[in-house]
Amino acid sequence: MKFLPISFLVLALATATAFAYDPSPLQDICVATNDLSSGVFVNGKFCKDPNQASADDFLFTGFRNPGNTSNPLGSKVTTAFVDQFPGLNTLGISMARLDFAPGGLNPPHTHPRGTEVLVVVEGTLLVGFVTSDQLNNTLFTKVLYKGDVFVFPIGLIHFQLNIGNTYALAFAGLSSQNPGLITIANAVFGAKPPISADVLTKAFQVDRSC
Ligand SMILES: *[C@@H]1O[C@H](CO)[C@@H](O)[C@H](O)[C@H]1NC(C)=O
Ligand SMILES: *[C@@H]1O[C@H](CO)[C@@H](O)[C@H](O)[C@H]1NC(C)=O
Repeated sequence: MKFLPISFLVLALATATAFAYDPSPLQDICVATNDLSSGVFVNGKFCKDPNQASADDFLFTGFRNPGNTSNPLGSKVTTAFVDQFPGLNTLGISMARLDFAPGGLNPPHTHPRGTEVLVVVEGTLLVGFVTSDQLNNTLFTKVLYKGDVFVFPIGLIHFQLNIGNTYALAFAGLSSQNPGLITIANAVFGAKPPISADVLTKAFQVDRSC
């Protein structure tokens, strides 16, 4: 019985580890700094001296204006990840603003470190994600209207397409300060240097001229 508290502690720690993704904050605030002179690395960004932090560190104004959707995809994602929003450092959370022209697409992509929850503020979006090979690459898809919320589980490939004939606007929250972004087409067909055509033609079962 004497050992019970220790085994309980071990279990509690294991549970905490299992549920935490970004490391839990170890202090009240940890505003990111690019000042390398402190010479101490952490799993994230360096922390500014808390006494030098100000309210501005916790404010992000980059969502005030619509993103510019004048591009071939007709969409623009504006991220408020730790690189743009230093106050997020160590907090395990971030956001994005998604603007869509009519027909605009946020192409298939994945966030390797974050689950994404998305709310539609204007317009109509066709959204979906695809499970891994283990679950037979099943597509889970929905049409979302103003006010609807959809969740894209961590790491899974997903997309959003504006199927309305008006502009669409959505906001997303992500469960990491730095969720990462892998756009499938860019990674596979836009790698620098390019992935060998032998690899791509075999993988996608297509001819070189396609
Ligand atoms: C939007 O992007 C296009 C293409 O890069 C550019 O020509 C245009 O000036 C931009 N519009 C604004 C308002 O920045
Ligand atoms: C995936 O496919 C296998 C083989 O057809 C099947 O046994 C299994 O039930 C499927 N699983 C799901 C989640 O669809």
